[in-house]
Amino acid sequence: MKLLSLLVIFSSILAGKAISALLWNETYPKGEVIRLGDFDIYSVGKSNGNLSIIVIYDIRGFNISQTRVFCDRLASEYFVHIVMPDFFRGTAAPTNGSMSTWLADVSNWSKVSNDLKNVANWLNKSFSTNRIAVIGFCWGGLQVVRACSNLSTIFFTGISIHGASLTSDEVRQLQQPMLFIGAGSDPPLQPYLSDAIEQSNSIISKQCEYKTYLDMRHGFVAASANYSNPDNVKAIDDVHLTVRNYLDKLTKNISVSLSINFYFLLILLIFAFHLHL
Ligand SMILES: *[C@@H]1O[C@H](CO)[C@@H](O)[C@H](O)[C@H]1NC(C)=O
Ligand SMILES: *[C@@H]1O[C@H](CO)[C@@H](O)[C@H](O)[C@H]1NC(C)=O
Ligand SMILES: *[C@@H]1O[C@H](CO)[C@@H](O)[C@H](O)[C@H]1NC(C)=O
Ligand SMILES: *[C@@H]1O[C@H](CO)[C@@H](O)[C@H](O)[C@H]1NC(C)=O
Ligand SMILES: *[C@@H]1O[C@H](CO)[C@@H](O)[C@H](O)[C@H]1NC(C)=O
Ligand SMILES: *[C@@H]1O[C@H](CO)[C@@H](O)[C@H](O)[C@H]1NC(C)=O
Ligand SMILES: *[C@@H]1O[C@H](CO)[C@@H](O)[C@H](O)[C@H]1NC(C)=O
Ligand SMILES: *[C@@H]1O[C@H](CO)[C@@H](O)[C@H](O)[C@H]1NC(C)=O
Repeated sequence: MKLLSLLVIFSSILAGKAISALLWNETYPKGEVIRLGDFDIYSVGKSNGNLSIIVIYDIRGFNISQTRVFCDRLASEYFVHIVMPDFFRGTAAPTNGSMSTWLADVSNWSKVSNDLKNVANWLNKSFSTNRIAVIGFCWGGLQVVRACSNLSTIFFTGISIHGASLTSDEVRQLQQPMLFIGAGSDPPLQPYLSDAIEQSNSIISKQCEYKTYLDMRHGFVAASANYSNPDNVKAIDDVHLTVRNYLDKLTKNISVSLSINFYFLLILLIFAFHLHL
């Protein structure tokens, strides 16, 4: 079984790093849970450079395998330190009862921004990170918009993946460029959001990007990702590529792309060598 897993992993790497439905939660090295003050942080990977990424989960919270696997995969493929703080402190959206009370409480920006500042400070102090990007799913997508507006000295960019409740009033405040990824069932990103950004800040607007996966439904990269569905898996593969390309463009991080190429060349060589034995 070990050998089979290894073979599947190797062949998936060779076939363009696609994740296998069978091993979707085991393909990439996993991180660890660290305690920071009064909340936990899921931490995975090590940065090859000065870039770290804070991931903001959706309302299903901290323990969702699909969301963690997104972090594991990006950390592994992009050689970057990813941290996902537990903003909800052990809770998640209630399945019964007072959803709106819970949501109002966890969405209090003064609390969320405090947590983001603390995590950014910790990254800076403990890992000498001086560039931090922020990526959020659904509920987290709106927090990313707010972070790129209100905490724009800390975060140089943000990525919203099927962000929820994004309004033109919110995106008009942006002080840093963003990549917006949407699902077919989400409200259209263009021209609704793109026009508002263009009108309020044409410089940032030029660096913003938009991509919609028309055949996907809200949540398809995080808590609602279905790795048994080949179309969903293909869309997630493409989201990772889109995210890496966008970050590359913004950071112009040549050393990282070079080391990725070198890494795959090395694996190819090792693989070819073993075939000839
Ligand atoms: C991955 O998911 C399978 C079920 O689909 C489960 O049996 C296995 O324990 C999981 N592995 C990890 C490392 O979470
Ligand atoms: C990180 O940035 C600092 C200052 O900007 C620089 O001196 C250092 O070499 C960078 N480290 C890496 C690994 O790129
Ligand atoms: C996640 O798991 C931890 C540890 O098992 C638990 O304390 C926490 O309440 C869980 N969070 C959610 C949202 O279920
Ligand atoms: C949801 O239902 C469970 C069991 O019926 C109950 O213990 C819990 O308090 C309920 N939660 C809310 C928020 O009403
Ligand atoms: C938001 O949280 C702060 C504490 O960080 C608190 O003072 C404030 O009353 C909260 N706002 C609302 C609307 O609950
Ligand atoms: C961030 O928001 C707070 C209130 O929540 C406000 O006092 C502050 O001026 C804002 N900062 C920026 C840079 O927009
Ligand atoms: C990180 O810390 C250094 C030195 O304390 C400071 O100059 C820099 O602005 C900080 N960067 C961020 C993103 O907080
Ligand atoms: C996941 O996708 C598979 C294959 O399309 C489908 O059979 C299954 O019902 C889906 N699961 C959920 C929870 O939607």
